[in-house]
Amino acid sequence: MKKILIINGPNLNLLGRREPGVYGSRSFEDYYKELCTQYSSVELSYFQSNHEGALIDKLHEVGFDVDGIILNAGAFTHTSVALHDAIRAINAPVVEVHISNVHQREEFRHHSFISAACRGVICGFGLDSYRLALEALLHES
Ligand code: DQA
Repeated sequence: MKKILIINGPNLNLLGRREPGVYGSRSFEDYYKELCTQYSSVELSYFQSNHEGALIDKLHEVGFDVDGIILNAGAFTHTSVALHDAIRAINAPVVEVHISNVHQREEFRHHSFISAACRGVICGFGLDSYRLALEALLHES
C-alpha cells in the first residue's frame, strides 16, 4: 500500500469558513473523508499546523518513510527558505499544491520559495488540486 501524507499549513484549518469566495465553502476534513473513501487502496494521512517549525518537523519525521507528500504550505510558500531546505533534505517527492490560482492573485503570491525543491506544482483547481497531486504521485511511484 502506497503511503501518502497531506500537509496543510497556516490558516488552512479554517477552510470552509475562510474567504469562501476564494477557497470554497467545504471544510478540509469533509473533503479528506471523501478522498480517503475514493482512494481506499492508498494509506493516506493528514497533518495541519499553523507553525512553520511544526511543518518542518513533520517533513523530517515522515520524509524518509512515505511514498509522497502533498504540501499546501499556505502563506509560508511565499516566505520560507527553511521549508525549501526541509523539502530538499528528505527523500520523498513533494507536490506543492494551492487551492487558488496564486498567479491570478496579488503579486506577493506569485513567487514560491518551495517550487524549486518540489517534484511539481498544482494550483487553481480548488480542493480538487489535492486529488490531482495524489494522482500525479501514484502515477510515478
Ligand atoms: C494558498 C495560497 C496562498 O497564497 C495562501 O497564503 C494560502 C492558501 C492556496 O491554497 O490557494 O493560505 O496556498
